[in-house]
Amino acid sequence: MKPPPHAVLDALPRPVCAYIYNLATFRDRIKQLKAALPDTAQLLYAIKANSHPALVTEAATTADGLEVASGGELDTAIAAAPDRIVFSGPAKTDAALATAVTSHIPVVVNVESTHELQRLNHLARQHHRTAHIALRVNRRAAAPTGTHQMTGTPTPFGIDIDQLPEAVNLATNLPGIHLTGLHLHAVSNNLDATSHAQFIAKSLRFATDTAQRYGLRWETVNLGGGLGVDPQARDVFDLPDFSRRLKRLSTTDTTMVFEIGRWLAATCGHYVTEVIDVKRNHGRDFAVVRGGTHHFRLPAAWGYSHPAGVHPVGAWPYPWPRPEIRDELIDVTGELCTPRDVLARAVPIKRVRVGDLLVFAGTGAYGWDISHHDFLSHPHPDFVILPPK
Ligand SMILES: Cc1ncc(COP(=O)(O)O)c(C=O)c1O
Repeated sequence: MKPPPHAVLDALPRPVCAYIYNLATFRDRIKQLKAALPDTAQLLYAIKANSHPALVTEAATTADGLEVASGGELDTAIAAAPDRIVFSGPAKTDAALATAVTSHIPVVVNVESTHELQRLNHLARQHHRTAHIALRVNRRAAAPTGTHQMTGTPTPFGIDIDQLPEAVNLATNLPGIHLTGLHLHAVSNNLDATSHAQFIAKSLRFATDTAQRYGLRWETVNLGGGLGVDPQARDVFDLPDFSRRLKRLSTTDTTMVFEIGRWLAATCGHYVTEVIDVKRNHGRDFAVVRGGTHHFRLPAAWGYSHPAGVHPVGAWPYPWPRPEIRDELIDVTGELCTPRDVLARAVPIKRVRVGDLLVFAGTGAYGWDISHHDFLSHPHPDFVILPPK
């Protein structure tokens, strides 16, 4: 993960608090993953990972389409004019479904229940359109390891495998519905490429068996997202191994669809915060920054320490000695008045001074987008987009 150039860090307005997104890195990740997938596969960008318009616009042209999970994301995606959109989410409103049905860009709705299917059919008929759908299935087989397991376990996501016959029957008989395939997203942040490839092979087998059972042919099988990125950068998803295994799978006339968020966006982002204070309190050392979990919630949500590098800043505007911590384990905490506003605990640091910058790499996915931005009304960070050269 290449850190942002010093000139960019030094030009940030004080007190520094910014997300820096590198579009060249994001574009490279899309291209790398596209090359790793079988030629006929479609790679969609799951914009929930980072819905900044610059990334969405880039993905709309570099990837094969966008995946969205709300009416708001659907509007953002339509504005970016991709070739195709896939619409997921367990509580879609009629307004959002109507937008999907009437969109000038092809939208496939991943249907989560038979009630949603009936609503979609109703709306499609009202608008004299046909809704293209995939049935999202919660199968019996457990998901591979990772976070957010969404299949083989009770969740509000997808249609229980036992209700699939009824859903297929409805989807093939409702006049406003065209059933294109299955949606089998199961997990997020799986770092094990072998088990993810095995999950995909099993999912394709399940799709083929299901098609045969109902005498159908799938145009697409959506295998969801889930390729992992270790936020502490200790482990790497083995993309070449994943690619080799996937390219051995034959899918005849069915197109594999991937809707990937984290793996595409994580490494393009850096979160940069200025140290506002340092202190020792009951035997522990703290660097308190302008920012925190209201901008970058992932470490608190997942209970880990996100690594940070120190970018030293020479200027010191005050007439008293500059407070600093040397050769200690420090906690990096934010500006919120809660002891849970912690970005990192007990991380070794050679030297950090008030006014230095802490640079958190790998924060481009599920950083800003999953955080509670307005708690305590602190100003939002700056967003700096580094364009491709
Ligand atoms: C339905 C669906 N598709 C795609 C994704 C993207 O997953 P990831 O960012 O792990 O690739 C998610 C994330 O949870 C999801 O729920």
